[in-house]
Amino acid sequence: MPSTVLTHINTLVTNDPSLGTGPLGRLQDAALVIEDDRVVWIGASSRAPATDSHIDAAGRSVIPGFVDSHAHLLFAGDRTAEFHARMSGEPYEAGGIATTVAATRAAPDDELAARLAHFRREMARQGTTTVETKSGYGLTVRDEARALRIAAEQLDEVTFLGAHIVAPEYRDDPAGYVDLVTGPMLDACAPHARWVDVFCERGAFGADQARAVLLAGRARGLRPRVHANQLGPGPGVALAVELGAASADHCTHLTDADVAALADGPTVATLLPGCEFSTRSPYPDARRLLDAGVVVALATDCNPGSSFTSSMPFCLAVAVREMGMTPDEALWSATAGGAAALERADVGRIVPGGRADLALLDAPDPVHLAYRPGVPLVSAVWREGARVD
Ligand code: NIG
Ligand code: FE
Repeated sequence: MPSTVLTHINTLVTNDPSLGTGPLGRLQDAALVIEDDRVVWIGASSRAPATDSHIDAAGRSVIPGFVDSHAHLLFAGDRTAEFHARMSGEPYEAGGIATTVAATRAAPDDELAARLAHFRREMARQGTTTVETKSGYGLTVRDEARALRIAAEQLDEVTFLGAHIVAPEYRDDPAGYVDLVTGPMLDACAPHARWVDVFCERGAFGADQARAVLLAGRARGLRPRVHANQLGPGPGVALAVELGAASADHCTHLTDADVAALADGPTVATLLPGCEFSTRSPYPDARRLLDAGVVVALATDCNPGSSFTSSMPFCLAVAVREMGMTPDEALWSATAGGAAALERADVGRIVPGGRADLALLDAPDPVHLAYRPGVPLVSAVWREGARVD
């Protein structure tokens, strides 16, 4: 079995407090051994065993690969003109989703698959080793099912978002669209997905419609997650907690009752700073959530409309600068927090016997991810033990 040792790691973040100091389980002057797809040894650099190949980290740092628990990567076209108009003063109202729906329906399967593969590579080069992605730009039985089938060929974390907006054909019959989603669309899509999601927002789906979609998904074995409280206050977060959803995503406009519900329940709050950045909207208050005891994840929301970034380091830096997170909190949320939002115990940490998903940073400490925003610090990435180019 081929093995690699990384030595002289100035700071190794394990996210396992039993292995090192603080919530990040930090180790100084550490080494680790990768064998096949696993990390098989962690310890002091001076005691590192000899292996087939040796990489001298030379005082750099190693972190768990980022877990991007929220992205929309199955689409064609882009929305450059919409972004340009918004940066010239127009508001974001999610109305552009229909533009992407038209382009996506018209695209052949191999184009959607190639674009997804392109984004995965782009993300991996920036340190992301686990990616979730959603449907939601097809909005017919055929187009939603093919998007999920294409996603499932490349990814483990696949989410059905047939209830993204009401399909244009059903503009005058939203109840009919919910019947389609909760019936034939879910029948065709559930075999390809792990999660069911809904955009619970004014202009998309109300609480009763969203509940119907999530329960219909759950009845077919899918676990719920919710786009909640993005554009204004609303029932999304309360619904997510009520149904024991893995995650409520966005959480930009929260009441005290929403924060208390998240703190008391099992639902992770996934914050998506790229979205507020790209729509010039007020950021969610991560400090308020953390101080209340809520588990917080950070993700990119990579999509052509509201957040066309695939960069977890960018999101982490914005979360530190604009949302009241410390650099350590933001790193935890971008790794272990994402794993919690996907109910995954096997990613988001570096432990002996665990998956070898990790990034080598060209920095002595991962605090540099926020301290040096925009600088490409990720210098090497391993996903399941394999070096990513
Ligand atoms: O998460 N909120 C709804 N959906 C996406 C936006 C999609 C789009 O604008 O195309 C989001 O921000
Ligand atoms: Fe989203």
